[in-house]
Amino acid sequence: MNNYKLQETSVWKFIDRGKWATHNPYYRGNWSPHIPRNLILKYTKENDVVADLFLGGGTTLIETKILNRNGIGVDINIESIKLSKSLLNFYVENNSKQILKNEDSRNTSIESNTVDLICMHPPYANVIKYSNEIKGDLSLLPPKLFLKEWDKVAKESKRILKKGKVCSFMIGDIRMNGCVYPLGFKSLEVFLNNGFSLKEIIIKEQYNCKLTSYWKNKSKQYGFYLLAHEYIFILFN
Ligand SMILES: C[S@@+](CC[C@H](N)C(=O)[O-])C[C@H]1O[C@@H](n2cnc3c(N)ncnc32)[C@H](O)[C@@H]1O
Repeated sequence: MNNYKLQETSVWKFIDRGKWATHNPYYRGNWSPHIPRNLILKYTKENDVVADLFLGGGTTLIETKILNRNGIGVDINIESIKLSKSLLNFYVENNSKQILKNEDSRNTSIESNTVDLICMHPPYANVIKYSNEIKGDLSLLPPKLFLKEWDKVAKESKRILKKGKVCSFMIGDIRMNGCVYPLGFKSLEVFLNNGFSLKEIIIKEQYNCKLTSYWKNKSKQYGFYLLAHEYIFILFN
């Protein structure tokens, strides 16, 4: 991976989602390792601290380990922590540390002003439910309630991130009753209202999405375009 080519434009598409190290596509809705890799390489240096407040299957933390950054991963679901721990069990020739916390991203034990990059991928409200009943799981909330709690994530991000450093998150819109609910822009607005400044809007093209055949039929039946992009927002604290 020494000659890894970073993205150069504001439109990203990864036909090969990335299979190096212990990465795999099995954690539902996980992101391609190309995404945290691009963000980490562009916005941090070795030994910096990178936090992912929605750890999932551990993709970001695997990248911090390979790239010699210290990683902090937070997830409310203990299954995510267990899975990530097992996937982080590989050898690298560096002394970086990866810390996993089974906590709520709205209220973590991470010290204030200690993080150099936040790189996170929350649930898109309740599009995919990550548990049936875990208290505080934001994937159980419909969009409007999700956005209310997202405000607390923005405040927590502001607290833990060093001044002038980057906070990035990927999120998509939702189709509801034939209309688009612009969850992406609404979630961006929450961060802007909390004092973050917008540096980049990246359009991430979706490729090989599991739900496609279901939505293909629906889009033909009701005559709407398939949503085939997500946003990666890059903000400064
Ligand atoms: C889209 S997944 C993240 C996938 C991850 N980027 C990956 O590549 O595996 C969203 C994660 O957010 C977690 N989550 C939901 N509510 C949370 C909360 N309040 N605090 C921390 N994690 C939460 C879910 O358990 C789920 O693992």
